[in-house]
Amino acid sequence: MTELISTDITDPTQGVAHLIEALREDLGKDAEHSRTLPPQTYYSPAFFALEQAKVFRADWMCIGHVAQLANVGDYFSINILGEPLLAVRSAEGIAVMSRVCLHRWMPIVEGAGNARGFACPFHHWSYGLDGQMLGAPSMEQAAGFDAKALRLPRVRSEVVSGLIFITFSDAVASIGDRLHDLVPLLGKYHLADLGVAFTLDYDCDFNWKIAAETFMECYHHSAVHRGTLEHSFPGRLSSIGEGGEGWSICQQPLRAKGELSEILTPGLVPFEGLSEADMRRINLVQIFPNCLLGLDPDRVSVTTLLPISAELTVWHRVVLVSPAAMAQPDFADTCARMQARGKTIAGEDVAVNGIQQRALHSAYAGPGRLSHLERTVWQQANYLRSRLLD
Ligand code: FES
Ligand SMILES: [Fe+2]
Repeated sequence: MTELISTDITDPTQGVAHLIEALREDLGKDAEHSRTLPPQTYYSPAFFALEQAKVFRADWMCIGHVAQLANVGDYFSINILGEPLLAVRSAEGIAVMSRVCLHRWMPIVEGAGNARGFACPFHHWSYGLDGQMLGAPSMEQAAGFDAKALRLPRVRSEVVSGLIFITFSDAVASIGDRLHDLVPLLGKYHLADLGVAFTLDYDCDFNWKIAAETFMECYHHSAVHRGTLEHSFPGRLSSIGEGGEGWSICQQPLRAKGELSEILTPGLVPFEGLSEADMRRINLVQIFPNCLLGLDPDRVSVTTLLPISAELTVWHRVVLVSPAAMAQPDFADTCARMQARGKTIAGEDVAVNGIQQRALHSAYAGPGRLSHLERTVWQQANYLRSRLLD
């Protein structure tokens, strides 16, 4: 018999109360009975507004890695939740601040690079690396104006194992404390001491949760990556651990008879001190909500998801390698090869995810049951429940 389908929660003009109730229905279910969130949570503007308020603005978000700011004067700019921000290393260390000019709101800098200071491109008000205003031309007739008293507003930030996190919340507890149990694993990969091999960016036409879910499960290898990953990393061999407070982990092992050459990249240098088992697997880690780590035996990828709207996400990846690998004479060729392969695999995911996003608008789409190979999808949903349900 055909089940009648209720479409009463597909109206985008509705509020989120019905979606919150749908989330509550699965509260406390065990993993064996797990299913996805309702598809409406992936496109409802009202639900996205709720996520912004209770997840992204209230929790910590990763914006990059300290290797992007190796030297004094190094900076990079990002846009996150509509805020133009600047991460910069001054003589005092790394700071994250607003890059909206204190005059008439022009962003004082775009992109990334190395600078001794910043001059706003609109009227040349100038700022030091620490955000201190240094000068403002032709302001001597502005009564009481004192450039020395002005400074770009700082955003609360913390560095954990080389990862740079920010939060807009004064109340949220330290991310360092929360990741206490994860730090030893990141230490095995020397995460704080790696250098940038290359970066990869995508403007994704899908919800941020889709991107995170796809990164964190290997169930799709046999279909989506059948020509790239599945042979060496069969999805059915992957396993998902308990994770910790605020993070999840999926292990992606090399096939039993696989050679190390299938997991190692020619030209890179494996990290020192890894066990035999570590040499034969890739750890995929999500630090909720927006940070995705790929821990390979010779490189680490840090992917940050920057949600723009319910159906648009900027996906920014930094691939990090050991200083020993960077010193190899053919390092540029190695990076080019890694980048090409990274683009192929990410392209396979991004193509599917865009189609998936459009299809989940269907009136016939509902929560789908999850395999044990997708526990990370369930864990992310439970993280959201913990933030969204009172
Ligand atoms: S807006 Fe920056 S100097 Fe005028
Ligand atoms: Fe994938």
